[in-house]
Formats: sequence, C-alpha cells, structure tokens
Amino acid sequence: MKIIIFGCGQGGQTLGNLLSASVRLLAFADNNPQTWGKEYEGIPVISPAQIPQMDPDLVWIAIKNPAAASSVLSQLQDLGYTGPVQNLSALLDQIDFRLATIRLLAKEIRQRCLPGEIAELGVHQGASARELNRLFPERKLYLFDTFQGFPEKALAAEAERNPSVRWKDAFQDTSVSQVLEQLPYPDQAVICAGYFPDSLPSAPPRFAFVHLDPDLYESVAQGLRIFWPLLVCGGVIFVHDYRSLQFPGAGQAVKEFCRKHRLTPLPLPDLHGSALLVKQSEDS
Ligand SMILES: C[S@@+](CC[C@H](N)C(=O)[O-])C[C@H]1O[C@@H](n2cnc3c(N)ncnc32)[C@H](O)[C@@H]1O
Repeated sequence: MKIIIFGCGQGGQTLGNLLSASVRLLAFADNNPQTWGKEYEGIPVISPAQIPQMDPDLVWIAIKNPAAASSVLSQLQDLGYTGPVQNLSALLDQIDFRLATIRLLAKEIRQRCLPGEIAELGVHQGASARELNRLFPERKLYLFDTFQGFPEKALAAEAERNPSVRWKDAFQDTSVSQVLEQLPYPDQAVICAGYFPDSLPSAPPRFAFVHLDPDLYESVAQGLRIFWPLLVCGGVIFVHDYRSLQFPGAGQAVKEFCRKHRLTPLPLPDLHGSALLVKQSEDS
C-alpha cells in the first residue's frame, strides 16, 4: 500500500515511525511552503497540490488540531483527491502508547516484586497520576508539582536555552484537592507541592518507578539527577517529551544525563516521544 502523510510535524513524524513494513510512504505533504523540497528521514516533503499526481492508496492526516485536520479534509477534496483518508488525531484520542507502556511496565514491576515507591514529577490535574495510583494500589505515590503551573525559575532557565518555548501560563488550572479527587486510592498519595527539587522530602524513600513529565529542561535535568540515585536496582525512570518539538529541553536533558552516565535511553513511539532509563546496577 502506498500512502502520503499530511503534516510533517510531531504527528506526521510519529506516524512515519509506526508504519508497518508493507506500507510504502511516498511523501509527507505540508501546507508550510518552507518545508517543501526538504526531506524527513529520507522521505520528501511535498506541496499538497502534488498529492493527486502521486496517486496514493491512502492519505493520513497527521494534524492534532481537530479544526485544522477538518480543513485539510476539504482541501484534499478541492485538490481533486478522492481516495480514502485516515485521521491520526481520531486514532490517538483512543489509543495511548505512553499509557500502554506504563501499564506493561507496572505489570513487570509487580510480577517481579520489585521493592520501592512510585513518583511523578509533573502532575498538573492528575491524569497520569490517577493511572499510576490505580496500577500500584499498595505503594505510596509521591506527587511533585507546584500545582500552580510552571515555576518561574525553571521558565527563566528555559527562556535562555530554548527561547521558542512559549507556554508561560500553562498548567495553572489545577489544585491539590482537584488531583486527590481524581485518585482511586488517595490515602497512598504523598503531596510534595512547590518548586522541585526544593519540595523533595528530607528523607526520601527508594523508588521502583518514576514518571518525569515536567516538560522543561531544568526540571527534567533535576529530576534525573535526584531520582536516579533513589531508584532501586531494576527500577525505571520514564521521561515524557523526549522527542518533543514543543519542549526540546526534555530531550536535551535526557541526552546529557545519559552521556554522563553512559546509559542508552530506550525511545518509545508515542506522540511526543518518551524515553525509558532502566537502572541495571547500583553503581551505574
Ligand atoms: C505536562 S504537565 C504534567 C501533565 C500530567 N503528567 C498529566 O498527565 O496530565 C507539566 C507539569 O509540570 C510542572 N512542573 C514543571 N517543572 C516543575 C518544577 N521544577 N517543580 C514543580 N512542578 C513543575 C508544571 O507545574 C505542570 O503542572
């Protein structure tokens, strides 16, 4: 089957990685003229007007914004493309590779009776915390967040490193009580509110699984520095946004940490890319 992916951003790149060997990716199409004539992983980026002449069997719309995706649908019709169309954002509304991996990892940790508690840095309204709490009902869940949005300090460091990140006011719409209401076992939650790492308890426990989802370079770097020594042998740090185009600092922090500790991050094919760091020995 010959396909074209419409959208060469994060969604298109993710979909490109997920294709099976029997699918031939002819091209990425994009409405941004600056991308035309370029290549991504050896695949050309074309103008949408070229789609009909390439005669694909299927066009995938890989654009997350629902309004933009539906305007691409009419654009395809106007261009004279009458073949089948699939929508990545409709698929990703129901399928979550990140959560699937966390569920499978939780099973491994439980079956191997790995000791240690669970932590999350970057909680916001508690969507992933709820899942962690459900998967590990017998373990404490340490939740680190300002619960008031990105901390000024981490944002200032990000502005110097990645001036393109413009999410200053994001994630302020939350509170500790709102998060606790989400959790199936709220008694297991240990709320660590405030700027991380200042919010670290004075005698932190060892952890079996740590979910790092604070988006910014400084926060991910601090998270890795603090949690790696606290991880039990065989424990896992799961870092979200490893290949994010919106938050490049997360990937930068992981790469630096892995170079320093001679680790190979295991990349996952979820939308913003996650990376797994498994602690093989106490001295790694
Ligand atoms: C992407 S959100 C977390 C999303 C959440 N995991 C979910 O599933 O919906 C990122 C969160 O990280 C928090 N954050 C980032 N850096 C932080 C730091 N250094 N200390 C405390 N909170 C931080 C922000 O306040 C924000 O709530």
